[in-house]
Amino acid sequence: MAMGSFFSNKMATFWCLVFLGIAMAAVGVHCQSTDSLGFITIDCGMDPDSSYVDPKTNISYVSDAGFIDSGINANISGAYVVNNMVRRLKTVRSFPNGTRNCYTITPITQGSKYLLRAWFMYGNYDGLNTQPVLFDVYLGVNFWETINITDPSFFYTAEAIAVASANYFSVCLVNTGKGTPFVSGLEVRPLKNKLYPAVNASRSLVLFKRANLGVEDTYIRYPDDRLDRLWSPWSSPLWTNIATNSTVENLSEDNFEAPTAVMQTAVTPINSSILLLLWDPYPGDVNQYFAILHISELFNIVGTNQSRQFNIFVNGILWLGHAMAPDYLFSDSVYSLTPLGQFSTYNITLQSLSNSTLPPILNALEIYSTMSNSNVPSDAGDIDAMMTIKSSYKIKRNWMGDPCSPEDFAWDGLKCTYSHPNPPKVTALNLSSSGLVGEIIKSFASLGALEYLDLSYNNLTGSVPSALGELTSLKLLDLTSNQLNGSIPSVLLEKSQNGFLTLRLDGNRHLCENGTSCKVTPTSEKKKIATAVIVILCVVIPVIILVVIVILWRVRRLQGSRGGTSVNPQNGGFHKPANQNHQDPLQLENRQFTYVEIKNITNNFQKIIGKGGFGSVFHGCLEDGIQVAVKMLSQSSSQGAKEFLAEAQHLTRVHHRNLVSLVGYCNDGGYLGLVYEYMSQGTLQEQLQGKRQNTRGLSWGQRLRIAVEAAQGLEYLHKGCKPPLVHRDVKTANILLSEPLEAKIADFGLSKAFQSETNTHISTAVVGTPGYLDPEYYNTFQLSEKSDVYSFGVVLLELITGLPPIVQGTENVHIVQWVRQRLARGNIEDIVDARLQGKYDVNSIWKCADIALKCTSQGSHQRPTMPNVVMQLKESLELETSHDTTENMVTYNENLYTEVSDVSQNSVHELENLARMSDVSGPSAR
Ligand SMILES: *[C@@H]1O[C@H](CO)[C@@H](O)[C@H](O)[C@H]1NC(C)=O
Ligand SMILES: *[C@@H]1O[C@H](CO)[C@@H](O)[C@H](O)[C@H]1NC(C)=O
Ligand SMILES: *[C@@H]1O[C@H](CO)[C@@H](O)[C@H](O)[C@H]1NC(C)=O
Ligand SMILES: *[C@@H]1O[C@H](CO)[C@@H](O)[C@H](O)[C@H]1NC(C)=O
Ligand SMILES: *[C@@H]1O[C@H](CO)[C@@H](O)[C@H](O)[C@H]1NC(C)=O
Ligand SMILES: *[C@@H]1O[C@H](CO)[C@@H](O)[C@H](O)[C@H]1NC(C)=O
Ligand SMILES: *[C@@H]1O[C@H](CO)[C@@H](O)[C@H](O)[C@H]1NC(C)=O
Repeated sequence: MAMGSFFSNKMATFWCLVFLGIAMAAVGVHCQSTDSLGFITIDCGMDPDSSYVDPKTNISYVSDAGFIDSGINANISGAYVVNNMVRRLKTVRSFPNGTRNCYTITPITQGSKYLLRAWFMYGNYDGLNTQPVLFDVYLGVNFWETINITDPSFFYTAEAIAVASANYFSVCLVNTGKGTPFVSGLEVRPLKNKLYPAVNASRSLVLFKRANLGVEDTYIRYPDDRLDRLWSPWSSPLWTNIATNSTVENLSEDNFEAPTAVMQTAVTPINSSILLLLWDPYPGDVNQYFAILHISELFNIVGTNQSRQFNIFVNGILWLGHAMAPDYLFSDSVYSLTPLGQFSTYNITLQSLSNSTLPPILNALEIYSTMSNSNVPSDAGDIDAMMTIKSSYKIKRNWMGDPCSPEDFAWDGLKCTYSHPNPPKVTALNLSSSGLVGEIIKSFASLGALEYLDLSYNNLTGSVPSALGELTSLKLLDLTSNQLNGSIPSVLLEKSQNGFLTLRLDGNRHLCENGTSCKVTPTSEKKKIATAVIVILCVVIPVIILVVIVILWRVRRLQGSRGGTSVNPQNGGFHKPANQNHQDPLQLENRQFTYVEIKNITNNFQKIIGKGGFGSVFHGCLEDGIQVAVKMLSQSSSQGAKEFLAEAQHLTRVHHRNLVSLVGYCNDGGYLGLVYEYMSQGTLQEQLQGKRQNTRGLSWGQRLRIAVEAAQGLEYLHKGCKPPLVHRDVKTANILLSEPLEAKIADFGLSKAFQSETNTHISTAVVGTPGYLDPEYYNTFQLSEKSDVYSFGVVLLELITGLPPIVQGTENVHIVQWVRQRLARGNIEDIVDARLQGKYDVNSIWKCADIALKCTSQGSHQRPTMPNVVMQLKESLELETSHDTTENMVTYNENLYTEVSDVSQNSVHELENLARMSDVSGPSAR
């Protein structure tokens, strides 16, 4: 390999010190478990809170007590304790109970590369003299290795290199029925990200063999290897050991930083031009192998008539495109970024050229297999929520490692959905009779797919958090026999009354005291009552309210407008005095504003932030500094009153994080106004047209997230409301964005409720916005949820193309037609918004375009439902977020086939030392 510029050894040391200094400063602040090198070194089974410094390596060891709450400590039998034995092998933690027990190792920097190593020495710690002991080790949700302990006096290790997918590593021991799992030590070492370039977020490697060639019995690790890899000795009677005392340096672009102590020794074949390495893969193992050969010339042959040049073959295929002529005292490595091919037996041959006077040389080697990544970790939000729930209530059980994954080891009391390749999500959580003490924490509401939550028979106190109402799929909430107080959040009550949610609240003496409204109607048992309640709540009451408002408004209008003076209506529309009992729970949260208050809030209607069909929208600020948007019905718009009131009516009924929420309303002296939460990033239309100042060009990931959220809002209108609501005016101008770009659907003025039994609704006037209007609805007057689906499909096409629904050109063409024409040629790049500058996962775009075209099918029966759209958009988002732009690396694997003819009889056949040795094993003295 060409030698580029390189640092001298002194310079390298300088940079190393600088690097260590930085690492020290960074980690020293917030953790005790890493030492100054960023090493985490755990002696398992040691007394809790104890620690020591190993005299040989100067590495500090800490007890494992802070990393796990299960298992029992034991000392190995005195018969196996030898002189000078390292302390970490003298104690173990064993796991007689539970199938899976996991360590949670922190602090870890998410996205960084690490070397992980586990040590195992049996030493008859349990006095049972079991042999062999077999169990599995997992890194996170993925199988790492089977530990097969056949000699109680040997140590065994498992090693892996991985990129941290979270701010912790979980290392799990799994009982496979062939002995009690145990562990002696755990070590985690940070690696610079450029090292081991074959390892990335989607590929971890498991060590198969790491050998320092040309030494008889010395293991090398830290401090000789600054990265603390463990190099096992390997020599053979068929090889000549050679050595030097001079330093072997690393090139500055070295991807492996093999330590000089390892590179100073090497082997060459005796009386042969071929050095041969052989190994068998694990039986039935589909994993693929990576090999790294570390090579340096140890003789100064420059200027002599000696030469050393050799080719390297993997199973007869030339591996390196050119002959290797190693540099004197510089470490070079031969490796590939893709796995070696699949073979039943692997052989690597180093064969000297015919004109080379010296045989091939090899200083060290590493062989890795690919870690299976067939198991998908649970949804990251669910993991966080479950971890918080676990620690808040100090739940022990088998709650270790990933909550849902792998499926066989899901936590007790959990049920999850599995739809590979999507991350599993928690659907049921049973914590009945679990001794829970304290308040119901918000984390339960973060389990987005939760359907069943059973917290009965605990000592939970405080009130029922309204955040639980955000769980759109929740079907059962059992809070029986706790010490809860306060009232039931109106969102939950509403769902229960509408028959979506079964609420069990018996045995909470202080719940619903003081006249707070808590009527709960058992749903599943008495459908008739439920239906009656639904009719009353959702049809009769709104109608009455509407009638009252309309009458009132008319009366006020007849009285003439008295703008500017404060009129306090005695009986204004929605409003009921706060101290009055039996309020309708649906309206508890909305506040009534007088016209004067509205004027103050908006600073006399100073700043217009939007204009709708009914009038202007103003920016406002409440007393407590919260920003709001105030929509006023213009006095001239008598026609708008109906829609205006319809919107108010709908908004009091719907509550979802992806629907804009109503803060209050004004109905004062002929002035009608609605006060909403303020969405600082304006409308999606403005964002896409780049109309806003400081507009941040939306990335594809942001666009998709907005699409998912808007779709969830519509899903709620269609499926979460009884009766379902059709928005009828879905468009980018009605999708509002908050400061962190969270999308919320707005403008319910045209929304129509209808009974789902009939499923369609004949409407006499077609409403909507040109470009978004469902052609079927337009032609047949048949309104259904599918009309919204059509409009939403148009929104998706706008997100992909950045174009408006009517594409301007020599002749204006509808966006659906425009996209279909171009996609027919099969080229997605033709339609994608140029502002994305090619930064997107092309599969994600295809998937989204596919959804959009299905949504905009001519016939409504061909269009998907909103829940389906949400699901598919999430898959598209998944593709985008896992899209890795760093894949385009060069590979040295040339895959050229060359015949090896000259395999001489006495070539080295080192099968024994490599075959089937996944573990570095050795005598326990080191
Ligand atoms: C293991 O289970 C047994 C019986 O269930 C129990 O007595 C013992 O305390 C448990 N041991 C540990 C370490 O949890
Ligand atoms: C465990 O190792 C022993 C000795 O190396 C071997 O004979 C045995 O087949 C191994 N067991 C398994 C299940 O791999
Ligand atoms: C390296 O140094 C040691 C002691 O200083 C010496 O015994 C040995 O022969 C030297 N080896 C080489 C290859 O020069
Ligand atoms: C190495 O592998 C190649 C291809 O599988 C095979 O032809 C060759 O005989 C092998 N060499 C040895 C020494 O096993
Ligand atoms: C050996 O032969 C190769 C071509 O076969 C040539 O590139 C190389 O320079 C030669 N080496 C020596 C030392 O002559
Ligand atoms: C629950 O609270 C009651 C009363 O405060 C107490 O007597 C009981 O021991 C508590 N139970 C638990 C499991 O904490
Ligand atoms: C109910 O009223 C009593 C006094 O009348 C008061 O002590 C208690 O805190 C109130 N409970 C709630 C939940 O407001």
